Amino acid sequence: MARFRFMLWGAGFFARKWLEAIQARGDCEVVGIGSRSAARAEELRRDFTLGSAVSYAGWEEAADKGQADGVLITLPQSLHPEATLHALARGWHVLVEKPLALDMAAARTVYEGSRSHPDRVVMVNQNFRWRPHIQALRRGMREGLIGRVGHLMFECRQQIRRKTVDGWRERMAEPFLLDYAIHHFDLMRYLTGDEPVRVTGLSFRPPWSWFDGNSAAAAIVTMRNGLVVDYGGTMVSQGLETTQEGLITVIGDKGTLHLDGKSQVSLHGQGDARNLPQEPIPGGELGYALAEFLGAIRAKQPPETHVTEHIRSLALLLAVVESSRRGSPVEVAELLDFMK
Ligand SMILES: NC(=O)c1ccc[n+]([C@@H]2O[C@H](COP(=O)([O-])OP(=O)(O)OC[C@H]3O[C@@H](n4cnc5c(N)ncnc54)[C@H](OP(=O)(O)O)[C@@H]3O)[C@@H](O)[C@H]2O)c1
Repeated sequence: MARFRFMLWGAGFFARKWLEAIQARGDCEVVGIGSRSAARAEELRRDFTLGSAVSYAGWEEAADKGQADGVLITLPQSLHPEATLHALARGWHVLVEKPLALDMAAARTVYEGSRSHPDRVVMVNQNFRWRPHIQALRRGMREGLIGRVGHLMFECRQQIRRKTVDGWRERMAEPFLLDYAIHHFDLMRYLTGDEPVRVTGLSFRPPWSWFDGNSAAAAIVTMRNGLVVDYGGTMVSQGLETTQEGLITVIGDKGTLHLDGKSQVSLHGQGDARNLPQEPIPGGELGYALAEFLGAIRAKQPPETHVTEHIRSLALLLAVVESSRRGSPVEVAELLDFMK
């Protein structure tokens, strides 16, 4: 089988993580790099021995002149919608980093664009899903280990100091929610298998924050079956951090599941507390994402985190922003009125 030819747009921090995952597989390769910086592209070519990959002076030139089967978009988020639509217009499949867009109007343009190219796969990376402890927690919930789930609590405290190219994240209006917490809000749907109805949220900037925009948030989400999610997170924690997913506690009518700071998932309330077994993810989380993307193209099936699936998580997240702005609860359906 011919190797799948990726174009890589963006040559920053996460492009390198993707290159490691691509090179661990035998069925795909990078044939072109779109980066405004010749030096950054050259470093990638050297570090990953990409001798035959063509360098383009930015993603736009790569979109116009490159030849590929698909694109991997690791650009700043404000560029994701436009870049995705350009790639679709070239007839390419798209694997784009989260989030798909910074607002629902832009998400809608991609949704409509993807519907105009139904034979092209558009997948958004939601890699927190594909971690062994998240899988163990989800299995425990799905297998009914704690009975009927009624309350989910998230507590995430990170200190994000890594700088972005040209400071795009440092200048974002909502860096915590849109750049980071999108993973957590996606997990709310992924873990419960339920859809959100109403959100009350507050997005704010602690006075010591080194980001221009809001770098912490709190939210209460009510799901369709009555389950309540209680969420708190920050990217400017001082002195005490959690893991990336944070502490997750799930309370049901027969017990509690808890993801702790050492990525162990424990079951409580069913005799002695015990840790749930975890299975390794072959190829790791980005390896899983690649397998999902390439598998979907070959099977002509939507991947797990196809564009419409991601937009549902994005709407939940943007409902927090909207609720914070209005100072009142927001119905998530309001944001999704364009989706059938
Ligand atoms: N899923 C995850 O866990 C995860 C983790 C980290 C990041 N990400 C995602 O990956 C994407 C990139 O993040 P990153 O951390 O790799 O960022 P980064 O290090 O700042 O890299 C961004 C890349 O985009 C290019 N770029 C093109 N146009 C740009 C513009 N107008 N302003 C700034 N940069 C521009 C940059 O410059 P050149 O064109 O000059 O190369 C750079 O190569 C984001 O969407 C982020 O959400 C995902």
